[in-house]
Amino acid sequence: MDTSAMFNLTYGLFIASVELDGRKNACIINTAIQTTSEPCCMTVTMQKSNLTTEMILKKWNFSISIIAQTCPLEMIKNFGLRSGRECDKFAGVKCEIDNNGNPYFTKDMLAFMSVDVSSVIDLGTHYLFVCKVAEAEKLESGKPMTYADYRTLKAGGSLELTAPQPAKKTYFCSVCHYVYDGATPFEDLPDDYVCPICGKPKSFFITE
Ligand SMILES: Cc1cc2nc3c(=O)[nH]c(=O)nc-3n(C[C@H](O)[C@H](O)[C@H](O)COP(=O)(O)O)c2cc1C
Repeated sequence: MDTSAMFNLTYGLFIASVELDGRKNACIINTAIQTTSEPCCMTVTMQKSNLTTEMILKKWNFSISIIAQTCPLEMIKNFGLRSGRECDKFAGVKCEIDNNGNPYFTKDMLAFMSVDVSSVIDLGTHYLFVCKVAEAEKLESGKPMTYADYRTLKAGGSLELTAPQPAKKTYFCSVCHYVYDGATPFEDLPDDYVCPICGKPKSFFITE
């Protein structure tokens, strides 16, 4: 078996964060994936030795922030190359708090989701957390940081960045659920715009 074949797998980069008994901690992960859409579920694989893993096992919920390409390498090093057992990774780092009381990040992040752990599978060195998404929100728009991007930055390279912008609102027809995807911002469409699927007027469109 040529295990280098595995290097062709692609991964995103995320921060898994949790608060337990007043203590916040978080670590970088590259193993978050959506497994099903109905219900909306994800899996995350985490090393048993991580403090974050230990805290999640006690709390059974955590948040996942999706890192944008604009995120500085220092932020990734802070959360991914040292343990909360030795330092407070949140010192000087701004975060928000989700409905479960867990921290999540908004700067240089594309989205966050709050997840409830529904089952834990023991993989020896790691646990596989099977999770249900309880809350999700888009943050900045831009490109997601990949594991390959992280390796480029770590090797001293740079990424072709797009400036972060607030996430675009999604408008959809309340009757047929057509999602508006045109180049013109929905707000700037003329008043006589109608849904291309069911013909309902602009006023029937709603936003999330
Ligand atoms: C690029 C990158 C990807 C990582 N992916 C994972 C992962 O998927 N699962 C995991 O448990 N740890 C992963 N880690 C390692 C943890 O982030 C690291 O062990 C961290 O220091 C744990 O901190 P903690 O003890 O405060 O939880 C990754 C680290 C980096 C830099």
